[in-house]
Amino acid sequence: MKLRFLPLAVAVVACHKTASFTPSATDVGFPSSSATGAAVYSGDRRAPSFPDAWPYKAGRAAVFGQHAMVASDAPLASQAGVEILEHGGNAVDAAVAVGFALAVVFPEAGNIGGGGYMVIRMADGRTAALDYREVAPLAASRDMYLDEQGNLTNKSVVGPLASGVPGAIAGLTTALAKYGTMSLADVMAPAIRYAEQGFVVEGPFARSLTSNARLIGQFGGAGVFLPDGKPLAVGTRLVQPELAQTLHRVAEQGAPGFYTGKTAQLIADEMHRDGGIITTEDLARYKPVWREPIKSSYRGYTLLTMPPSSSGGITVTETLNILEGFVPVPPFGSAEYAHVLGSAYQRAFIDRNEKLADPAFAPVPMKQLTDKAYAQKLRATIGHDRATPTSSVAKTMREGMETTHYSVADAQGNAVATTTTLNALYGSGVYVRGGGFFLNDEMDDFAAAPGKPNMFGLVQGEANAIQPGKRMLSAMSPTIVLDRDGGLLLVVGSRGGPRIITSTSQVILNVLDQHMILSDAVSAPRIHHQALPDSLAYERNGLAPAVLDSLRQMGYGLEPIGGVGLINAIMRVRGGYEGMSDPRSMGRPVGY
Ligand code: DON
Repeated sequence: MKLRFLPLAVAVVACHKTASFTPSATDVGFPSSSATGAAVYSGDRRAPSFPDAWPYKAGRAAVFGQHAMVASDAPLASQAGVEILEHGGNAVDAAVAVGFALAVVFPEAGNIGGGGYMVIRMADGRTAALDYREVAPLAASRDMYLDEQGNLTNKSVVGPLASGVPGAIAGLTTALAKYGTMSLADVMAPAIRYAEQGFVVEGPFARSLTSNARLIGQFGGAGVFLPDGKPLAVGTRLVQPELAQTLHRVAEQGAPGFYTGKTAQLIADEMHRDGGIITTEDLARYKPVWREPIKSSYRGYTLLTMPPSSSGGITVTETLNILEGFVPVPPFGSAEYAHVLGSAYQRAFIDRNEKLADPAFAPVPMKQLTDKAYAQKLRATIGHDRATPTSSVAKTMREGMETTHYSVADAQGNAVATTTTLNALYGSGVYVRGGGFFLNDEMDDFAAAPGKPNMFGLVQGEANAIQPGKRMLSAMSPTIVLDRDGGLLLVVGSRGGPRIITSTSQVILNVLDQHMILSDAVSAPRIHHQALPDSLAYERNGLAPAVLDSLRQMGYGLEPIGGVGLINAIMRVRGGYEGMSDPRSMGRPVGY
């Protein structure tokens, strides 16, 4: 088996254990890519058929690792995780290292100025979910983004008012302290090295800077990313000394190195320059929250996923509970499958958009929404061959892929699924001068004007209105799937706003119901329905023309879109792990 990427040239000190697993009722077979690069469909894995015009063919090679695997959106960040694993760190040590490394080498979405969610499953059976979502600043208010006529401004998206109080550093340090085995300085070493010694700008980063130059150019990051007014060119070495200093403060002092003292002051100064409201008090008060993961079942498999303040886990669970009643599940790629899956999403999103919010501020009917009997009632409302209208609204969906998800699994069978974001690419655009990092524009995930669409076209309700100290509702859905014997099977998650929910769940369904190998499950065309706008979105060329005709006849408004999510996933196979980054993205797993 050939790795796509060789392990780093670091001293290999760890005792290299092969991943150890309990025998499994799910036979996911041998690694699916042979030495020749041709897919191997063994065990109960089946070759799917994708539409002729679909650009990502079935049978791609995944990355195989005998011991451990990291899948992230940036090859250098995946390498940082493997470096830690090879030095004897566990999956949590590696995940924290990846999180910090992404903040350096993938500044469009990796971050220390944003927040995220982490689902952890230790091989000894312990499970945890960490919520390090941003919170609204103390001076935030319900109508802060409305102009005098009551119209929404773009201040929840661009500029200093758009930022929630960052949770990333609190989250990463808290996860490490509870479940990691290495020191903060050790797991931060690769990130600090990347910041101090620099890394070479490659095509995807240069393109991303070019398309976001207008946003970045308005704020303090212009000098770093647009020297002489031009985006960094491919081949340039980007060194980030201010970011390195911030990281050193954190490595030495822990979270207080960010939330108090110099870094906190730099953030507050940046805010005050231009009308932002985050204060040093906001920063000093920030706390991440340990939560119980949502534990649900799907056809005998167990899902461990993220509870509110993210809507991800509940919405994935509700969708799968609705689908579970369809036996057998219709064939992949058929109009029937798009109909039942789209209808399940539509119903789950209606609940999501109205009922979910930060549980510290609004009652969240978690039990009801994850209940199988409730799902049965919703299932009964799905017509045999007719779309059910949500109601008609303007099509305001925006194509955005700005978050980042990474998955880690180690030789002991510990696993971490983490999704983190600045919200839009480069967040609010505001760059903390002297601190070397972008701040998020997560405030737009609130219902800035309940009943009106946000940047993702999501129409959300009162429960998610802005209140000081409240977490804005998220769609992030880091998920770990266990096989029918309780062994680790999948670590998965995505980026893409509300499409995080639909992309993550479709990869899970492709593996569990459609018996795909991991690479096919990730490459397969996806659909999306978020209730409003009331249309079934599908990836361009992802549904065959005859299937589109049938769906039209069923009454669906169909919307071709550029992409549904960007996945980074790991699957346990015989003898190790496979890692797969979405072929739609520039991510790359590294295993060893
Ligand atoms: O938390 C959320 O749901 C959003 N802030 C995620 C944003 C995202 O995925 C950006 N990419 N489209």
